[in-house]
Amino acid sequence: GRGEFSHYMLKEMYEQPDIVLKEGTQTLDIPKELSKALHITLIGCGSAFYAAWGGKYYLEQLANRIVTLELASEFHYRNPVVQDGVTIAVSQSGETADTLKAIQYMEQHGQYTVGMVNVPHSSISRQVHYEILTKAGPEIGVASTKAFTAQLLCLLKISMNLMQDSVRKQKILKGLKQLPLDMQKIFFKVSQLQDIAQHLVHSKGIIFLGRGMSYPVALEGALKMSELSYIPGQGFAAGELKHGPLALVDACTPVVVLAPMDQFFEKTVSNIYEVCAREGKVFVITDNAGAEQLAGVPVQDIFVYPSPTTWELHPFLSVLTLQLIAYYTALHKGCSIDQPRNLAKAVTVE
Ligand code: F6R
Repeated sequence: GRGEFSHYMLKEMYEQPDIVLKEGTQTLDIPKELSKALHITLIGCGSAFYAAWGGKYYLEQLANRIVTLELASEFHYRNPVVQDGVTIAVSQSGETADTLKAIQYMEQHGQYTVGMVNVPHSSISRQVHYEILTKAGPEIGVASTKAFTAQLLCLLKISMNLMQDSVRKQKILKGLKQLPLDMQKIFFKVSQLQDIAQHLVHSKGIIFLGRGMSYPVALEGALKMSELSYIPGQGFAAGELKHGPLALVDACTPVVVLAPMDQFFEKTVSNIYEVCAREGKVFVITDNAGAEQLAGVPVQDIFVYPSPTTWELHPFLSVLTLQLIAYYTALHKGCSIDQPRNLAKAVTVE
């Protein structure tokens, strides 16, 4: 049951630090086919696709692999040309029809397949050559929260398995030990997120911006907002702002900007100024180090989470923040949080 929590989603968000605590520093077994693969294809739908997208950054940056990202619901219909390699399919339920189809297509074309699933003994588990369990525990809320975090963690651990630089690896491991506590600290500041949600609840649309790994996190935040509160959330790469989305900015369209202190920070800050100059209401999500640099910038509000030891860990903190903002926005609106309208937990039709 959901115990003291008013929704399964709330309970599942609160379980995330424990998942990182339990699984973060456990070694993950991976098949030799994956260890040896130079080219890896990541595939999934919805939130699983965004987690896979984060995994692409990890595998490229940490493990120097060539990574192709594919949306399962588009992939097999294209009849794409496929060479040998390894496919990792990411799916919470293990039942998503499009993801299963994509795996079958890859196997027919000679690829070795790995299923990264949360539900054991699922259809995808039975189809693939090798199964990696995300071990988030049963996820009841239709909107994925803890499964996303567990997927991202598994993808990070795979990348750490494959990486050469042991100094950097130790740094990430050290950060992973600290991460659960830093995630907990976000819950201590939940009243600020409730206030932000109160601002967002009356808007007709909300823009989410991020660069680097914060880009797929922004897309995930936009999806969470849309499915839970029915307020259209649109995520963009912050660098795309001038290529169109800036036209959406006015005094009534809130813009949520992920601005962690990473290699993109200064570029993201200039995007914040661009939005502010058009009277856009900016809500910044950043860490301590970023907040220091943002003093005096004319934004609506800044939510600050603890600075992680290394950039790879920002998404765990920023996605939790965005999940909570979407949750409280939906709560203020009185939406059906655990079962958003028109949606099902497992999409077993194409
Ligand atoms: C969003 C959400 C969906 C799923 C998608 C894939 O909150 O839950 O976008 O992520 O339907 O489902 P799985 O992971 O079961 O393949």
